[in-house]
Amino acid sequence: MDDAESIVRQANNRKVWIALRDLFPHPYTIEDADTFLKSVTNSEPVTLFCVEANGAAVGGIGIRIGVDVHRQTAELGYWLGQEFWGRGIMTEAVAAFTDFCFEEFQLRRIYAEPFANNPASVCVLEKAGFAFEGRLKNNVLKDGKLLDSLLYARTK
Ligand SMILES: CC(C)(COP(=O)(O)OP(=O)(O)OC[C@H]1O[C@@H](n2cnc3c(N)ncnc32)[C@H](O)[C@@H]1OP(=O)(O)O)[C@@H](O)C(=O)NCCC(=O)NCCS
Repeated sequence: MDDAESIVRQANNRKVWIALRDLFPHPYTIEDADTFLKSVTNSEPVTLFCVEANGAAVGGIGIRIGVDVHRQTAELGYWLGQEFWGRGIMTEAVAAFTDFCFEEFQLRRIYAEPFANNPASVCVLEKAGFAFEGRLKNNVLKDGKLLDSLLYARTK
């Protein structure tokens, strides 16, 4: 739970929020961090993790495992505090975390859906071995703007 302050410092940033689902709060308060940390630390299996840099929690990465016929599929999501961008951290984290998830869970497919206006995330996915599968037109309404999203996946 003592990761909360550091998470707020990094998560309370419009440039992070703008690339994520509206489920990610903005502004991001200490109560939001507490609620998030309580829910993930009590969840079983654990599928959401903090990204650590310089001994502090500065980002997040996780999967959501599907249900029914999608139970061997998971959606991947991730974010990193802006002061740590551009150092290769998320490329390394996404590649390693995807490997970990294929080993740890019974998954045959892990996919991500970056918004089409997010070249940094596309770059991360491509370098982490994800294949481009298509463009989902008008799939996202974010901050009042209608956007395409891009479908990327790694399969096993
Ligand atoms: C996307 C994000 C996770 C990237 O994390 P990161 O640790 O900075 O990523 P990396 O440093 O590993 O790699 C970023 C790559 O994108 C490239 N890149 C960055 N901005 C870019 C741009 N505008 N156009 C093209 N490439 C860009 C970088 O050059 C780098 O590639 P390189 O190593 O080949 O030079 C981070 O910017 C972030 O958290 N953004 C907000 C939330 C988000 O977008 N989450 C993903 C939702 S799908």
